[in-house]
Amino acid sequence: MGLVTACVFADFGNTVRVIGRTPEKIKKLNGGDPLIFEPGLQEILLRNLENGNLKFTQSYDSVGESKIVFIAVGTPSLEDGSADLSQVKGVASKIAKNLGSDFTVVSCKSTVPVGTNLEVEAIVRENAPEGAKFAVVSCPEFLREGTGVSDTLYPDRVIIGSESQEATDLLLELHAPVGGKRVVTDLASAELIKYAANSILATKISFANLIAQYCEKTGANAEVVLEAVGFDNRVSEKFLNVGIGYGGACFPKDVKALAYIGKNLGLDTGLLDGVEEVNFNAKSRFVEKVLRIFESGGDGGASATKKKRLAIWGLSFKPNTDDIREAPSRYILERLLSEGFGLSVYDPEAMGHIKAIFGDKLRYADDKMKALDGAEGLLILTEWNEFEGVDLETVKKALSKPIVVDGRNIFEPRKMKKLGFKYYSVGRRDVK
Ligand code: UDX
Repeated sequence: MGLVTACVFADFGNTVRVIGRTPEKIKKLNGGDPLIFEPGLQEILLRNLENGNLKFTQSYDSVGESKIVFIAVGTPSLEDGSADLSQVKGVASKIAKNLGSDFTVVSCKSTVPVGTNLEVEAIVRENAPEGAKFAVVSCPEFLREGTGVSDTLYPDRVIIGSESQEATDLLLELHAPVGGKRVVTDLASAELIKYAANSILATKISFANLIAQYCEKTGANAEVVLEAVGFDNRVSEKFLNVGIGYGGACFPKDVKALAYIGKNLGLDTGLLDGVEEVNFNAKSRFVEKVLRIFESGGDGGASATKKKRLAIWGLSFKPNTDDIREAPSRYILERLLSEGFGLSVYDPEAMGHIKAIFGDKLRYADDKMKALDGAEGLLILTEWNEFEGVDLETVKKALSKPIVVDGRNIFEPRKMKKLGFKYYSVGRRDVK
């Protein structure tokens, strides 16, 4: 988020200095390597390194010359579900110590619980040089991975939580080239908007996955049901795709954190707890389905021998990113390994990250078709475009049994049946 934001603001002609703490990463970024797979990002990075608008550094010196300083560090979940604010607080005091004599906006983009920016303000006040003029504001970010650049250029809205008119004006000026509605509000509301926005999207997904369970029990078709529900424009069709649940750096962490905040406020957080539970069930039910199918030989037979090899397509938490944070694939791989399956995996971008965690427990295929060698069935965990467009006849020939268990509903059951597959998906009738 920090990198995409920095690149886009540099591209608007601003001078942007990005402060990081890992020398190797800073070196790579200054050399034009964006470190993450994010479509369109490298081009903007290279362009703005070349024109001098953008530079990466470990030094906080540039804070003194900046009108606006964004905090964009991580706020990962702690064991109890609360947000770990140590990085936010750590950088706040460093920023404070380096403030210059002119008015500076310290703008928090990291997702933080209500009240945190008042704490940040206290930290900055405590550590700033005497007489420093500053305001702490909240400017939450809504970009999605995989479409980060266009989401930053054309957001639905820009939120500014601020108690200072001078700070608000500076942020409005900075965002002038950016699309979307403007919401200028108080600090607490801005902080809560971010959690509420992510949580309602996660709620939609879990609701869809719950309806998928009803469909599997009754023979109804989840895609048709949810599409029809989404045609009501009070609901909208977006974020009702069923599957193996949401992952990523935001939804799991933010739903947990909002529930934690609510419990501390003495609120009934049953709705949010349920969202999380359904999300967990989406991936565990998928594993149970795989066990049922392959322990019975895929055809209801009784040949329940384990140590079967399965091919897995897709490891990232969603397409167009190499991010595997909270990816459903990680849980599914763990469970299937512990059940004794051999797994051959393929993902266009996320293989390196998965290898760093799973090491030699998995077989890594250079391309999707190689993953099928010697496999009794194929599991689809991420809906990358290249999977949707595959030649299914070739897939069928490569598998030792024509079984596909699709966690993202990328194929049409009727077509799969015609091609002779046994095809299992989410919330739709199985093809056997
Ligand atoms: C999300 C928010 O969309 C974004 O506004 C916020 O700033 C960061 O968190 P991101 O995590 O990048 O963005 O991805 P998103 O496209 O929202 O998908 C999140 C997860 O939900 C993925 O695992 C995806 O597979 C899943 N999902 C999404 C579904 O299972 N069904 C859907 O209908 C939509």
